[in-house]
This record gives sequence, C-alpha cells and structure tokens, in this order.
Amino acid sequence: MYNILLLLHVLAATIWTGGHLVLALAVLPGVLKRKAPAELLRFESAFEKIGIPALLIQVGSGLALAYRVLPDVQQWFAFADQTSRLIGTKLALLALTMLLAADARLRIIPRLSEKNLTSLAWHIIPVTVVSVLFVVVGVSFRTGWLY
Ligand code: HEM
Repeated sequence: MYNILLLLHVLAATIWTGGHLVLALAVLPGVLKRKAPAELLRFESAFEKIGIPALLIQVGSGLALAYRVLPDVQQWFAFADQTSRLIGTKLALLALTMLLAADARLRIIPRLSEKNLTSLAWHIIPVTVVSVLFVVVGVSFRTGWLY
C-alpha cells in the first residue's frame, strides 16, 4: 500500500510541478512578449484537465503518507521535530497554492486581457516556485535536507 501511495504521490508531482515549470519557463515568456492572453488560456484549459486531478491525488496521497509517518494529526501543526516541521511546511505550501489559485481563477482569469496579463504572471511564477518547494520539502523526508 505504501509503495502505491508513494508512486501516486511522485507521479502526480511530476505532472503538477512539471506542468508549472513548462508553463512558467516555456509558455509564459512568449505569451507576455506577444501579449496573447488566448494562448495562455488555451494552455491553462488543456493543463487543468490533468493538473487538477493530479493536485487532488497529491493532496490525498500526501495526507495518507503524512498520517503514516506521523499518526498524531495534532503534531502536524506543532513544528516540534523534523517530521512535523516538514508536514507543517507542506500544509502551509498547500494553503498558499490554494489562495493564489483561487485568486487567479476567480478574480483574474474571468477578465483576462492584455492589460492584466502581468498580474496573472505574478500568480503563475509564485505557484511554480511553490510547486518546486513542495518537491524539495518532499525529498527532505528521506534525505533530511531541510530542518
Ligand atoms: C503539489 C504538491 C506536492 C508535491 C509536488 C509533492 C512532492 C513530493 C515528493 C517529490 C516527495 C518525495 C517522495 C520520495 O521520497 O520518494 C514527497 C514526499 C512526501 N510528501 Fe509530498 N508533495 C506534495 C504535496 C503534499 C501534501 C499536501 C502532503 C501532506 C501533508 C505531502 C506529504 C508528503 C509526505 C508525508 C512525504 C514523505 C513520504 C515518505 O517518504 O514516506 N505532500 N512529496
């Protein structure tokens, strides 16, 4: 069971983080240069179909993995030892991702135009950085890199 959870978690991570890196590094610069919101919306709607299920799998498998390494859920927010700090950091990154995504989805994307393209870029870039941090924090469970 653990192997399957970890496999799902890592597979979904390749989609979520990989997709955002492609968006931020390969798609976004051209979109900004050409001032072409339609191109961005086309990528978003294609990526969403696989990216949102990937994030849901990520969260579900992540919570199950966290429960496995630290069954006392109160400790997830205690920042008491390395495991609890890593889980707490993952949850904080998740909250940040949700806030940025909700703001982009509800406030910016419905009215996307040449004028507010840069404010969407200022959401895409932090969500991408956070997606990479998710991986760094995730790898730290085994390597002890952080904390
Ligand atoms: C987009 C979001 C996420 C990404 C990209 C991500 C990525 C990763 C990666 C790459 C690993 C390393 C796997 C390995 O050691 O082979 C990992 C481990 C882990 N992640 Fe996540 N993660 C995400 C969200 C979450 C969430 C929301 C939680 C819930 C608290 C979580 C909990 C864990 C745990 C507990 C481990 C350690 C598993 C173990 O070694 O037993 N992750 N994550």
